[in-house]
Amino acid sequence: MGTSLQTFDLTPLPGISFGAVVRGVELRALDDRTWEALYDAWIEFGLLIFPEQFLTRDEQDAFATRFGDLEFKATPIANIDKDGVIHHAPDDDVVKSIRGNEGWHHDSTYMPIQAKGAVFTAEIIPTEGAATGFSDMRAAYEMLDDATRDRIATLSAHHSLYYSQRRAGYLPSQKNERGGYDRYGYHDLEAPLRPLVKFHPVTGRPNLLIGRHAHDIPGMDPAESEQLLDSLNEQACQQDNTYHHQWEVGDAVVWDNRRLMHQATPFDLSQPRRMWHTRIAGDPETETAVNHR
Ligand SMILES: [Fe+2]
Repeated sequence: MGTSLQTFDLTPLPGISFGAVVRGVELRALDDRTWEALYDAWIEFGLLIFPEQFLTRDEQDAFATRFGDLEFKATPIANIDKDGVIHHAPDDDVVKSIRGNEGWHHDSTYMPIQAKGAVFTAEIIPTEGAATGFSDMRAAYEMLDDATRDRIATLSAHHSLYYSQRRAGYLPSQKNERGGYDRYGYHDLEAPLRPLVKFHPVTGRPNLLIGRHAHDIPGMDPAESEQLLDSLNEQACQQDNTYHHQWEVGDAVVWDNRRLMHQATPFDLSQPRRMWHTRIAGDPETETAVNHR
């Protein structure tokens, strides 16, 4: 679709392999030609940042639906309730969920179908901190030495929220009557198994698929597996391969979750923060875990 006339201003993030800031477009009123050009830019850059959109929840969901079916509609990622209560105690399950997201990850790799992407917007932000980090797993793969690429070429890992939250010390405090948890992603399914090297379904280009949920590489003992994954995560998310977005109220972003990892960063939890996350479902043909087909 490269012939679409671009009707917006796109500025690539400087000095990094991904990301662009897009101005001069109203996401709540996209015509089809502008949408096609935006989609191409999303595939190319992996992360698009749209300042000053101030989308309503319905407008956010409508924009996300351009990319595909939704895994879930606009959902608050917040330390503040509908009734204004602020969650800040370390053993509060809302706080544990927020803090867990400080580990780098792809969304929903612990579900049978990994997410395609997400639209994320800022409604209430604290005075400092709370940036969202992004990291390019395509560039990370390209930076690996040949020996490492050979070593991981045929490896897979299990992905689970139990693993990631337990390891970080953030499993929920509240259990259900079956001894499990009712929060999203804590299901009884066998942990999804996914190759460490993913071929992007649109570009065909390889990228790492790792992050905090990945563990227990089949054929390796758990300690060796953890060591390998820790080392890949550390190499992949070095500062020169990451961008941290400092939010302004009204910002909207959309990222390609097949290619990028992201992370939350800390802030003063006594200050209210409310973000809205709409998760775009992965295509079952390309995003289903190998042990859930
Ligand atoms: Fe996330």
